[in-house]
Amino acid sequence: MDGMSFSLQSWLRPLAKVGGVVFGVAALAVPAFAQTRTDLVERGRYLVETIGVCGHCHTPQQVKDGRQVDLPGMHLAGGYGFDGPVLGRWVGANITSDPETGIGGWTEVQIATAIREGRRPNGSIIGPPMPFAHYRKISDADAAAMAAYLKAVPPVRNAVERSSYRIRLPADWGPPVSGVPGPPAGDPVARGTYLVEVGHCMDCHTPNRAGGGGRDWSRTGAGGRPVTGLVGPVAASNITPHPERGLGRWTDEQIVRAITQGVSADGRRLSPPMPFASYARMAPRDLADLVAYLRSLPAQP
Ligand code: HEC
Ligand code: HEC
Repeated sequence: MDGMSFSLQSWLRPLAKVGGVVFGVAALAVPAFAQTRTDLVERGRYLVETIGVCGHCHTPQQVKDGRQVDLPGMHLAGGYGFDGPVLGRWVGANITSDPETGIGGWTEVQIATAIREGRRPNGSIIGPPMPFAHYRKISDADAAAMAAYLKAVPPVRNAVERSSYRIRLPADWGPPVSGVPGPPAGDPVARGTYLVEVGHCMDCHTPNRAGGGGRDWSRTGAGGRPVTGLVGPVAASNITPHPERGLGRWTDEQIVRAITQGVSADGRRLSPPMPFASYARMAPRDLADLVAYLRSLPAQP
């Protein structure tokens, strides 16, 4: 969805602003000792289908009644792509459990590595539309849960063309990722910060640096960057607490309504590139934590 203004650096520099937040010991909604296989798959389903919005790039879509909706029967089956001036052509992969055209032949560890480190089992590097700068922060438990769920996604046979990038991909997206704890359960801002990474909100909502070179993380959430989906480009909104330009005067309910229903505080219907329908299925507590995080940001004009 980010065909407009790609650059590698933007993916390598995640939320510097919130980088100082130290996550405490692993504390998941489901304590490890109580976790069954079913719990694990359900947690993975929740992450992939709601805040993770994986289908936003991995399920082919169409515009219907001003909304971006999934093509029926193609859930996570890939083949949906864009041509960008900088990046070249990128196409979301088939991540269903089909063994030949999807990732059914991969182990769960291999799938978790692909999500966080951007490396396939054959060693090749997955391209930058996948927001690895953010996904590297997914906890070990949540990466395992996502992988377990993807193994359970019904297979759809759909051979997808490989992306053909104009840029040269890096050798890796950073050192191997392991030992990542989840956010502490009792800290809404830390939980919201974590969820925003899983949902890569700030990748759309942070402007590019003047003169290029990726996102300007000193202005996290200030908006203004054009986002292209099936419609657009649409400028992403300022979602910092700025009283005039951002959400400073909005109620919590108005913020949640915008995220889940795509309706702005003044009643204006928002454009499709933001995946409202997926966020609408988030747990109320997680939505409240997103609001807590947004309110903790420095106001940006
Ligand atoms: C902004 C778009 C975008 C989002 C969001 C996204 N992906 Fe991807 N993903 C891609 C693209 C594009 C590719 C193929 C990249 C390539 O060909 O280099 C890919 C590749 C993959 C692969 C490797 C598959 C293969 O056969 O090469 C896996 C696994 C994967 N994504 C899982 C996920 C999961 C799980 C999520 C949600 C947490 C997710 N993706 C979110 C765009 C996205
Ligand atoms: C694919 C890019 C994209 C992602 C991901 C995304 N957004 Fe948005 N968002 C937009 C765009 C574009 C708009 C403006 C739509 C318009 O003006 O019609 C918007 C609008 C909003 C608004 C309404 C602001 C207003 O003034 O009306 C809020 C609040 C918001 N986003 C919060 C979030 C949060 C929180 C997340 C993550 C959970 C998120 N967004 C993820 C692109 C995105």
